[in-house]
Amino acid sequence: MASGAKYDAIGRTYTRTRIPDPRIAARITAKLGDARTVLNVGAGTGSYEPVDRAVVAVEPSATMLAQRPRGAAPAARAVAEALPFATATFDAAMATLTLHHWNDLEQGVAEMRRVATRQVVLFFEPSCSDDFWLYADYFPESGEVPSERAPGARRLAALFDVRSIESVPVPADCTDGFGAAYWNRPEAYLDPDVQAGISSFAQLDDATRTENTERLRCDLASGAWDTRYGYLRTLAEYDGGYRLLVAGS
Ligand SMILES: C[S@@+](CC[C@H](N)C(=O)[O-])C[C@H]1O[C@@H](n2cnc3c(N)ncnc32)[C@H](O)[C@@H]1O
Repeated sequence: MASGAKYDAIGRTYTRTRIPDPRIAARITAKLGDARTVLNVGAGTGSYEPVDRAVVAVEPSATMLAQRPRGAAPAARAVAEALPFATATFDAAMATLTLHHWNDLEQGVAEMRRVATRQVVLFFEPSCSDDFWLYADYFPESGEVPSERAPGARRLAALFDVRSIESVPVPADCTDGFGAAYWNRPEAYLDPDVQAGISSFAQLDDATRTENTERLRCDLASGAWDTRYGYLRTLAEYDGGYRLLVAGS
């Protein structure tokens, strides 16, 4: 599938539920260090772009580009695999929750390394997703969606000149409705808008999504979910497998 096509189809309501979380934003901005020029690759609607330095965005989906807020950084319609910039144009290149959608990961990473001295990447570890109650108990088919067989730390460490990889726990009141955002608020996963904002849901066929959603709805109504996982409702944060990688210099 052409890179922009997927999000042209599934990204129409992205900004309704994918509100960048300020705590995660602070972590990303800190890792950009003293970089003054930043390229945001797979930038989508502009989440996590710092406002205190010069940012340029690259995004292949017209639907996502159209949802960038007024005043957002300038954006080029392009793919990670062919960045339209000269070598070493930027101090840093960032990529948040996008690598698993790229058609050619190796080429995209090589391009990030070519155009920027430092790379900062927010990604998720696929084995953690497999263990997450949502996918393990209710939506196992999500793990079979090709983009959700994401590259984990081991694969990325072979492609980047890694300085650090840190865990990014998901706060109990996380505002960015990505896959594990509602680990303690299971009712949210019944909401069609929330489902539309999570690619592992949005790419499921309607019958599977409806059937699995009903199973979750029943377990919430009967108390079965709380019997098994109610302890999660009291925790402040959760390791949903999100990781922040810093590479280069
Ligand atoms: C889950 S969204 C993440 C958007 C944004 N970075 C964020 O954190 O909200 C994934 C984005 O990757 C983009 N994408 C897909 N294939 C791509 C490619 N080959 N190169 C660059 N971006 C790509 C999609 O169009 C989509 O906007």
